[in-house]
Amino acid sequence: MAGHLIARRTEFQRALLAWYRAHARPLPWRAAPSLYQTVVSEFMLQQTQVKTVLPYLARWLAELPDFAALAAAPESRVLKLWEGLGYYSRARNLHRLAREVAAWPELRRTPEAWRELPGVGPYTAAAITSISFGAPAACVDGNVVRILARLTADAAEFRDSASAGKAFTPLAEALLPADQPGDHNQAMMELGATVCFRQKPLCLTCPVQTFCAAGRAGNPEDFPRLAAKKMEQRAVTRAWCERGEALLLHRAAGDARRLADIHELPTPEQAGLDPAAVAQGKLLAKKRRGITRFQITESIHAVPPPRGRLRAGLAWVPFADLAALTLSGPHRRWVGEILAARAKR
Ligand code: ADE
Repeated sequence: MAGHLIARRTEFQRALLAWYRAHARPLPWRAAPSLYQTVVSEFMLQQTQVKTVLPYLARWLAELPDFAALAAAPESRVLKLWEGLGYYSRARNLHRLAREVAAWPELRRTPEAWRELPGVGPYTAAAITSISFGAPAACVDGNVVRILARLTADAAEFRDSASAGKAFTPLAEALLPADQPGDHNQAMMELGATVCFRQKPLCLTCPVQTFCAAGRAGNPEDFPRLAAKKMEQRAVTRAWCERGEALLLHRAAGDARRLADIHELPTPEQAGLDPAAVAQGKLLAKKRRGITRFQITESIHAVPPPRGRLRAGLAWVPFADLAALTLSGPHRRWVGEILAARAKR
């Protein structure tokens, strides 16, 4: 199947690009792309949907308009601007990247050079260099895998999306036009985001329907065949401790992988409280959040504060100062809800 498609690749590229030119959403990083804007938007888009990214990107660019401004910004500011987007290592890596790029004597334009930078994997390196420099590098993410698996009705079963991505990279590269790789990559992304949906794809309006084996057979939803992702369930207890008009928060250490320098309500262990006693405290909220392959249920209990000196990482934060601090997205929401409910009583 892939052979047929590759044989017709010029036609395929033309049909896809013509559709993209006519139908692409007018996204800010497409209107007047700069290298910096492309890099920032690709980092934000790594694990986050376009519509969530838009307001963050606008705020970010207004405050940190170029590599030099980002390189000079304190990390606390960078994290605050990222607050709510999650996966904060992206923000820290982007910050480090800006410092490296700002120090380059000469701009580097190959995907290989960009992959050496923090937080830049094959997808992001291909996106940045194809869009900004016309490098012949194909972007392969879950969306692109879905399109390619359907075009070829590839019945292979993949262990996970990473191995599927690897398997489809040669085909993605074979389909890439030498003259407009950036637009082609963005057209594939656009097709995945607006037409070739995981469920109920819009085959009737698809610009490359005549190239699509699964579309012709009427079973696009059968592809790609991916082993079901196993989500692990976890339960976490959180302590809600108030003193005067202040809340006890825990700040993860600077080297914590996921949440360094981000504040959250403490677990009993972080607060130095007896877990059984916290679990007996009044339940203020029970919330779910997904992080990578974990489905986490967090129970927030009101309990008296720990006695004696606070443990490392803990701080009493006056309610009035909460807004200025960086909290994880879910905890920012939950703390807000609990405080609002409390104000009504
Ligand atoms: N996802 C990742 N990069 C993107 C881009 N440049 N346009 C739309 N969606 C994307």
